Amino acid sequence: MSGSLTLPAGFLSKALGRIKPSPTIAVSQKARDLIAQGRDVIGLGAGEPDFPTPDNIKQAAFRAIERNETRYTAVEGIPELRKAICDKFKRENGLDYKPAQTLVAPGGKAIIFNAFVATLNPGDEVVIPAPYWVSYPDIVQLCGATPVIVETTEGDGFRMTAQQLAKAITPKTKWLLLNAPSNPTGAAYSAAHLKALATVLLDHPQVWVLTDDMYEHILYDGFEFATIAQVEPRLYPRTVTMNGCSKAYSMTGWRIGYCGGPEPLIKAMAAIQSQSTTMATSVSQWAAVEALSGPQHFIKERAAIFQKRRDLVVSMLNQARGIKCPKPEGAFYVYPSCAGTIGKSAPSGNVIRNDEDFAAELLAAEGVAVVHGAAFGLSPYFRISYATSDDVLEKACQRIQRFCANLR
Ligand SMILES: Cc1ncc(COP(=O)(O)O)c(C=O)c1O
Repeated sequence: MSGSLTLPAGFLSKALGRIKPSPTIAVSQKARDLIAQGRDVIGLGAGEPDFPTPDNIKQAAFRAIERNETRYTAVEGIPELRKAICDKFKRENGLDYKPAQTLVAPGGKAIIFNAFVATLNPGDEVVIPAPYWVSYPDIVQLCGATPVIVETTEGDGFRMTAQQLAKAITPKTKWLLLNAPSNPTGAAYSAAHLKALATVLLDHPQVWVLTDDMYEHILYDGFEFATIAQVEPRLYPRTVTMNGCSKAYSMTGWRIGYCGGPEPLIKAMAAIQSQSTTMATSVSQWAAVEALSGPQHFIKERAAIFQKRRDLVVSMLNQARGIKCPKPEGAFYVYPSCAGTIGKSAPSGNVIRNDEDFAAELLAAEGVAVVHGAAFGLSPYFRISYATSDDVLEKACQRIQRFCANLR
């Protein structure tokens, strides 16, 4: 068979035309490709902790395999994990969920996917503050619905204000999608920030909230995590509280996400899952029971390491000419402005017109892979993931400083 076979016209779905492949995954792949070609490239695109999965979690998975826990499980997840999720929500968030109100999925991404496929129709709107995690608008569009993007500002700490939310809501709004600490800015919302948003939502009973709390445990300088159903219990009946094991427990490859929410919606989401991925991997579910119920001390230890790296990166980037890097409250990303480099010429002779050019020229000149802000819906910025060693970060920031110094 020829490898260059072309697909018949109209073969691909219209839904595919509404989405683009994840730009963050594309940057990581580009960095890997260049490294395979022998180039000296530092990839700062990956959104995953560089720490290994803790041993006790790995051991729980080994034991599950030995017990032959290798078959299909219930679509919603094993009872042991659903119970551990309820305990987690109670212990860490003060939220009461019954096991029947929980769903386990192959990743937090799959939770969002299930929730939106189960509820969105063409014409429905989903309010998404920008900059946003790259997958949000595409999942909404895959469902035929419309993302309503609300651009936050650096001055507001990249947080959506109550006024902005009130303006974005229409009779067609079905969901607000909130993510804090944020990928890509690291911005977090205090209980007071959330309360202000909740006050707006109370006036609009048709709007549900999906809160992506994936980076809950990666917070700095004593910032206290809050989630909206806890801050405003009157929103509990229309909130899906989503979380997962990927970031807190360094388990990105295990694919475990979960949520708590109203039982009828959980049933609808499970129906979608039953006809798609069926369930999260059985062995991963057992590992997740240990993650959520076992020792938790390493989470704080790892967050302290991330905080040191944040301080290093923020300080070094603010010494790069034309770069301004705010200090985020959490997650493992910084979102610096490259406004001061726009209009300048790179070593290639090309003029930097926008953040996409900035990222491309930086990669070409210095071999540092970052993700351009346009991918997250707010320019001119770029995202750096500092989930890598101090040495690598120092080297990468030195290269960025040199790149900026060489712009003319
Ligand atoms: C904000 C946010 N939500 C969800 C996810 C998805 O996580 P998972 O690996 O559980 O699918 C990510 C992963 O990068 C993320 O950054």
